Amino acid sequence: MSALPPTAAAPAASPADAATLEQIAASVGTPAYVYGADAITAAYRQLDAAFGDAPHAIHYAMKANSSLAIVRLVRALGSAADANSMGEVEVALRCGFTPSDIVFTGVGKSAVELERAVALDLLAINVESPGELERLARLAADRGAVARVALRVNPDIDAQSHPHISTGLKSNKFGVPIDVAAALFREIASRPSLKAVGIHVHIGSQITALDPLERAAEAVVRLAAELRDAGIAIEHLDFGGGVGIAYDGGVAPDPTDYVRRIVRAAGGSGLKLAIEPGRVLVGAAGVLLTRVVDVKQFAGARRFVVLDAGMTELMRPALYGAFHRIEPVRPRAGALVPVDVVGPICESTDTFARDRALPPVEVGDLIVIRDSGAYAAAMGSNYLRRPLPPEVLTEGPAWRVTRRRQTLDDMLALES
Ligand code: LLP
Repeated sequence: MSALPPTAAAPAASPADAATLEQIAASVGTPAYVYGADAITAAYRQLDAAFGDAPHAIHYAMKANSSLAIVRLVRALGSAADANSMGEVEVALRCGFTPSDIVFTGVGKSAVELERAVALDLLAINVESPGELERLARLAADRGAVARVALRVNPDIDAQSHPHISTGLKSNKFGVPIDVAAALFREIASRPSLKAVGIHVHIGSQITALDPLERAAEAVVRLAAELRDAGIAIEHLDFGGGVGIAYDGGVAPDPTDYVRRIVRAAGGSGLKLAIEPGRVLVGAAGVLLTRVVDVKQFAGARRFVVLDAGMTELMRPALYGAFHRIEPVRPRAGALVPVDVVGPICESTDTFARDRALPPVEVGDLIVIRDSGAYAAAMGSNYLRRPLPPEVLTEGPAWRVTRRRQTLDDMLALES
């Protein structure tokens, strides 16, 4: 491994300064997502450099944020792509990825999706069950094709993350138990329409303890050795995504340390090492820019700050009780006051924070909700006929609109 500094600098926390955020809000309105290309670039380079001389690939997990501008940016940085639906595969292709750059994951791939994946000859179809393996083998045989298969193994390791985003326990629906994987690889080797290319594992997301990720990597390496001894050749080990970020602004796992642990566990395998980072590349690079639309408090009751963004634009707090920092773009002078920061949606779970200490805020004030680069826009919805917000990409001091706000006509275009 080449010499690296012990820790590379963390990506910049904000995609733009206050004046730029004000300009953006004045130009495109709120709510809006603002992403910083420089922070994404820094995060990508940090991960990439941490591999040193080890043969490796970074498969950007498109599910975190698949807007064209972001996908094109990571491609330009040298990334490959992890797609979790045929929609994401097609977006990757439109962004210039070739099929040999794309791995396709998903716990329930339809026949149509499998057929397209085989026709494209994707880098790997990450198979999740014996049934799927059988369907894929037949479908590829019918077309006279050979499908490139990686097997997603479930190592029964607790990622110690939120249960809703933990995927590596045998009680989870993902992958095949690792102890049946060798037999399935023998099955793959016996089928002329399948080619074994890799082992895939992904134990969860927003993981802040690196040990479970390292143990999953070690389990995969043991399986790879077993396959080698059985004469089954593969090309890569894919350790999935999952590294968390510090939503509270505190200490996050060091991405360099994470990659070094993978290289330490698997570098000796002689295989290409792949990871599928989503959040750690784009999460901290984005903010949700929103405006205060109401402030209300009755005697003896809580004080509510109502924003023009809600769970339709950022559903992580509603879904996972997730914490996001919330800050006025121009903090007013005055004592911090505990408030509930809520959205305008007709659900009580449409709450970004409870009892959050904020400086005084007034109607019309601009607010940012930090770390909204991943799983915010990507999980947005049209609930209440709310339009999808615009997306803006900053690069240095410059910025451009990479998605305009959805109009009512856009929204209704599919209906008659
Ligand atoms: N690879 C696979 C197979 C995955 O399922 C995922 C995430 C990733 C990679 C990327 O994981 P990351 O590096 O971003 O942790 N909506 C949730 C997160 C769901 C993650 C699903 N899979 C959230 O807002 O926290």
